[in-house]
Amino acid sequence: MPDLIATAAFGLEAVVDRELERLGYADRVVEDGKVTFAGDESAIARCNLWLRSADRVLLQIDEFAATDFGELFDRVEALPWEEWLPRDAAIPVEVRAVRSAIRSPRSGQAIVKKAIVTRLGRVYGLNQLPETGPRFPIDVAIVADNVTIAIDTSGDGLHKRGYRKTAGVAPLKETLAAGMLQLSYWKRDRTFADPFCGSGTLPIEAAMLGRNRAPGLDRRFLAEEWPALPRRVWDEARSEAKNAIITDVIAPIVASDIDQKAIATARRNAETAGVARDIEFSTKPISQFRSSDEYGCLVCNPPYGERLGERGEAEELYRELGSAFARSPTWSFYVLTSHPAFQDLVGRRPDRRRKLYNGRIECVYYQFYGPRPPKCPPATLPQGSGVDARPARADHDRVAE
Ligand SMILES: C[S@@+](CC[C@H](N)C(=O)[O-])C[C@H]1O[C@@H](n2cnc3c(N)ncnc32)[C@H](O)[C@@H]1O
Repeated sequence: MPDLIATAAFGLEAVVDRELERLGYADRVVEDGKVTFAGDESAIARCNLWLRSADRVLLQIDEFAATDFGELFDRVEALPWEEWLPRDAAIPVEVRAVRSAIRSPRSGQAIVKKAIVTRLGRVYGLNQLPETGPRFPIDVAIVADNVTIAIDTSGDGLHKRGYRKTAGVAPLKETLAAGMLQLSYWKRDRTFADPFCGSGTLPIEAAMLGRNRAPGLDRRFLAEEWPALPRRVWDEARSEAKNAIITDVIAPIVASDIDQKAIATARRNAETAGVARDIEFSTKPISQFRSSDEYGCLVCNPPYGERLGERGEAEELYRELGSAFARSPTWSFYVLTSHPAFQDLVGRRPDRRRKLYNGRIECVYYQFYGPRPPKCPPATLPQGSGVDARPARADHDRVAE
């Protein structure tokens, strides 16, 4: 069984690991930026379709130590590339090198490409490869002289679900939004709210999670064009994903924003994602946020006040958010921001703080836990989603500074 790699943004590795566990993949190794696991060819299709917080799924071809270009060439040339790559394969190569004797990614890229082309040319009896067929992006990571060679199976990053045709100002990456949700205690029987919803990423991801809808169901993946992967594998994975969608009633998902245009965009995006009926949209400022529901979860990405002149406005918003906390004593709150004084402005000490990056902006994900909801009789909960209430680690009461 080949090794697969699910790549993940800093801070989301444990979430991706949990997702893989739920998908049934047992042998997993979590490292910075990736989770490596054993999976057969159906795992390539299933993981591309289902992973919510991973960036990509790579097929690992080999891992070895190399300290010079001669060694790198020989090891790469010896690999059975023809098992995956047809004679017309297009082969872009990308190399990253850190703390290694092989320093130049550019030279490394030329060597790896030459080694693959030499091998395939010999096997297929060609002097020159046409490279007119399906793409096989080769990903080479050299870390401390350890070379990992993999092929990207996803193509466009997994955050490109296909529902966000238009984005508002500073939209969250879909994979980060899904990670924030899975780091929270929200589940489909608790009311969800995002009062700064912008283009709707968090409520749309919540609706997809709540409905157990595979995030990649409406898009294509690069490996679907690979002749070595039977069409059946993709058809079966898609049909499994369609059958897994939950049609029962789920708790309200409430999305609001002060900007009417943002709400129009969010509504359009939700329609494209097929979850518009699950989300209640409204245009209103945070100061008007109220809910008569108990034990809800508010997850949001408010303005950070990063730009000159916007800091004061953001600070006022955080005070208003603090009042919303006080009005909803049974709710849990989760806020992503880079503002250094957020905690003071909101006026409450978080139960946990987690470092996450929104693009290049270093942020803190503040987690404020409300009381646990009373236990529901199991019969009233939708079954069979594989989604459970635990966040990625069972550290409910810790505050990580
Ligand atoms: C960083 S953006 C949120 C982006 C969103 N998470 C997405 O993925 O598109 C912040 C949002 O807060 C909204 N906003 C600003 N002031 C507000 C207020 N007083 N009440 C409610 N929303 C506000 C903005 O209109 C903007 O859409």
